[in-house]
Amino acid sequence: MTGGPHPLDPVTADEVTRAVRVARSLPDLSDDVKVVSVETREPEKTAYLAWKEGGVRPARETFCILLDRGRRRGVEVVVSLDDDSLVSAVLLPEGVQPAMHLDEFVRVVDAVRSDERYLAALRLRGVDPASVHVEPWSTGTFEPGTARQARALTWVRADDKGDNPYSRPLYGLVAVIDLDRMIVTRIDDHAPGTRPPTGEGGDYRAGGGHPYRSDLRPLQITQPEGPSFVLDGHHVAWQKWDLRVGLHPREGLTLHDIGYTDAGERRSLCHRASIAELVIPYGDPNPTTHFKGVFDTGEYGMGPLTNSLRLGCDCLGEIAYLDGITNTWDGEARTIPNAICIHEEDDNLLWKHTDDYSGRVDRARSRRLVISSIATVGNYEYGYFWYLHLDGSLRFEAKLTGIVHTAGWVSSERSPYSLPLGDGIVTSNHQHFLCARLDLDLDGTRNTAFEVDSVAEPRGPANPDGVAFRTERLTYARESQARRSVAPASARRFRVENRSRRNRIGDPVSYELVPGDNMLPLQDPGSSIRERARFLDHHLWVTRYDPAERYPAGEYPTQSAGGDGLPAWAAADRPLLDEDVVVWYVFGAHHVPRLEDWPVMPVSRTGFELRPVGFFDFNPALDVPPPEPGTHCCPAEAS
Ligand code: NI
Repeated sequence: MTGGPHPLDPVTADEVTRAVRVARSLPDLSDDVKVVSVETREPEKTAYLAWKEGGVRPARETFCILLDRGRRRGVEVVVSLDDDSLVSAVLLPEGVQPAMHLDEFVRVVDAVRSDERYLAALRLRGVDPASVHVEPWSTGTFEPGTARQARALTWVRADDKGDNPYSRPLYGLVAVIDLDRMIVTRIDDHAPGTRPPTGEGGDYRAGGGHPYRSDLRPLQITQPEGPSFVLDGHHVAWQKWDLRVGLHPREGLTLHDIGYTDAGERRSLCHRASIAELVIPYGDPNPTTHFKGVFDTGEYGMGPLTNSLRLGCDCLGEIAYLDGITNTWDGEARTIPNAICIHEEDDNLLWKHTDDYSGRVDRARSRRLVISSIATVGNYEYGYFWYLHLDGSLRFEAKLTGIVHTAGWVSSERSPYSLPLGDGIVTSNHQHFLCARLDLDLDGTRNTAFEVDSVAEPRGPANPDGVAFRTERLTYARESQARRSVAPASARRFRVENRSRRNRIGDPVSYELVPGDNMLPLQDPGSSIRERARFLDHHLWVTRYDPAERYPAGEYPTQSAGGDGLPAWAAADRPLLDEDVVVWYVFGAHHVPRLEDWPVMPVSRTGFELRPVGFFDFNPALDVPPPEPGTHCCPAEAS
């Protein structure tokens, strides 16, 4: 298994350079070609598994998306890194728009700030053009035509030392940009001359005008013998877990080939886990910002927006970091140092019991392995945190923080769709939907998905006291049955099992997805954002594995009218029993803003848990030793 990077490893800087060189040599390209993304083309699963069993090494390839600005078309190029050759090239149809690149946005800002009509609108508002913060947004389907377009909103900065521009939104001013020509095509100004708010109360730096509290004593995490995990390249081994970690240009943090060693046998759990989409519909008809409904993953890409993390600040303890490799718009490799943080955390109690008769106390402390990254998407920060536990469970938590997006407001009437933050400034109701793509492979690829509800047994001869309840199962035999939503009242769980492997009581081994807080979209079913993000209609989808089915709203949601992705694939209604199933779980943070979210938002959390159900024959954490003998919690007589 030696020779070159692991087949699932993300691209290296050298690979980016080589792939772009080959991709740019494609005939027919115009002389104005930009590079949207470069990623490892992950091998098809059977080829990967065959290689793991000692078979042929899969070809090392990259998948590049180019933007040929000269022809106004996207181009998909696959490059072989085994011999630096072109494998395939596909010209995307007219109007199919690749994602926007961070560097493209920088150009948008320059274009807007040099447009005479825009400058005139600023002057009319008494705003110094040097002080504006211009933020391009994807337009969805709100602009006609097939041109690549964006809309830009404006705020005013008080200084350039990290002041909070979101405290001074300009009401009424929207610039529409043709990204192919990088020119402003139109200025929409429905409130000429409206002055910006004063920005009072918007500063969050250095206590935001409040003295720092002085009674926090140092809290240090030390592991004098080092952490219990081993990082080897992108492979992590911790306790009985082992997996690979990557940074993907679109999804950001990814986990691969997750296994758990049980009594000496490595058992597969999951081939790939990621957050495949993140979409934020805003719920405010405010004339300046009504169009906001954005796919942060599909339209921008989390990879290049990933933060470089700092020890002691972003992550506390004995940390191992992985760098991330992305690309500039010009196709050069860009390294994000310390993009992924890996460390152990104390997690309180794992299990405990006090035997009343003998007074004996047995307990084990929980700890977890944390694999995390944080991306800054404009005003917001999204932390993606995966937690592995000693009891075989795995959790995902998104941590949302940053600054709530703001808009101007001029009416004396309070809007029911937003919260006033001060004079002339509001923050709108919105929702953040994440979609986890979980390619579960429990003890192999042949799995079956189902849901379990708890239901009350009617009173009767078998239930004379009326106390009984049992579980009821709905097996997803086909994809048409596997579009489901959460049901907290019946404690609905979504499970995946392997019917060819049984536990000690004869049941198939399984894992279940335990939903957390969740909601459904509140936009009209015929609204633009609902059409484009049809996958939001259900919390859970199960599909049959197809390596081409990667993103729930399709490969290219930018300016798409919708219809791609999960709804289209599931329409095939493929059989799911004992198949290679992929679970898509849609969940989110419902955000009716609070005053406490301003001027910077305390972390809001949303996520889910995957935990074993009869996958193990007993509590898999029985073998976790008690805390250090002799410490105050473990008197000698009790240990
Ligand atoms: Ni929010």
